[in-house]
Amino acid sequence: SAFAAPLSPTFTACHDATDPDSKEIDCCPPSATAADITDFVPTAPSVIATRPAAQLVDSTYLKKYKTAIEKMRNLSSDDPRSFTAQANVHCAYCNGGYYQDGYADSQLLLDVHNSWLFFPFHRWYLYFFEKICQNMVDDDTFALPFWNWDNPPGMFLPTIFNDSSSPLYDSLRNPSHLSTVLDLSYEGTDSTDSTITVIKNNLYLMYKQMVTQSTTPLSFFGKTFRAGETSDPGAGSIETSPHSNVHRWTGDPNESHGEDMGSFYSAGRDPVFYCHHANVDRMWSLWNSLGGQNFTDSDWLNSSFYFYNEQAKPVKVYVKDCLDTSVLGYTYQTVDIPWLNSKP
Ligand code: C2O
Repeated sequence: SAFAAPLSPTFTACHDATDPDSKEIDCCPPSATAADITDFVPTAPSVIATRPAAQLVDSTYLKKYKTAIEKMRNLSSDDPRSFTAQANVHCAYCNGGYYQDGYADSQLLLDVHNSWLFFPFHRWYLYFFEKICQNMVDDDTFALPFWNWDNPPGMFLPTIFNDSSSPLYDSLRNPSHLSTVLDLSYEGTDSTDSTITVIKNNLYLMYKQMVTQSTTPLSFFGKTFRAGETSDPGAGSIETSPHSNVHRWTGDPNESHGEDMGSFYSAGRDPVFYCHHANVDRMWSLWNSLGGQNFTDSDWLNSSFYFYNEQAKPVKVYVKDCLDTSVLGYTYQTVDIPWLNSKP
């Protein structure tokens, strides 16, 4: 379009979002003025924290993780570091809380899904969520677990989320999926295939989405989305599947919109959301390590988002500053990648 430019949300003018029943819902963060906001400055991290596979964590790790989430749950919801406020970040960015900066008159919304903003937005979101967790337990080596759904031992709801007395628990999940195999192509109907067959098909799906269907930045990340354009131009391979299927598989089908994980406005209320998205983010890292090249388009690189950091201060971040996870201070535990050998 004639107005093509990088996208930025009208963060200082967040307004009510729209829930799936078309009702207004307030998921705005505490209001900030432009003068409060600083640009994120990449600095060499003092430690590289390793995000572990959720099925492999030990009791020391689990205790720390539960403490971090419990403390966030105990913060008042007007504290941007609270669990409630963090969950609302997803609602504001996905359910229409922000217009595109510079386009307020035309009320063009900025939705971070179904476009090339999907991977970088969620990388930054988890980055700040993780920094807040580190702050809660005063340990900068702490890192979020990843739901290793691309590997058979991870193809279940991670058991650490399934203890009803834990701060990691969420009651709005599909009650019949608490200990059955995860079907990465789930679309609302349970497979009648054997566990072995579901696992084999999951591995084929992973190969297809990560390799066969992800030969270009456009196919992996999703369609271009520039200022002045309409939201939701089109999702990339992983966002479509298995990302969305895992959301739907986890949410409770007895709720009207598959809450919590099955709907954008509520997904962040389930602690497993951040574990799911850590693996989505890991797919970006793996894709790069397999030779996948990021966009070099300056509209992508200079698109920006705003978050509250672990000091409860608003920060502006750019896509170009999240491309290297070692600069952000984290990496992923090395585990088997069996789908690499699962060419259908
Ligand atoms: Cu913002 Cu998994 O969606």
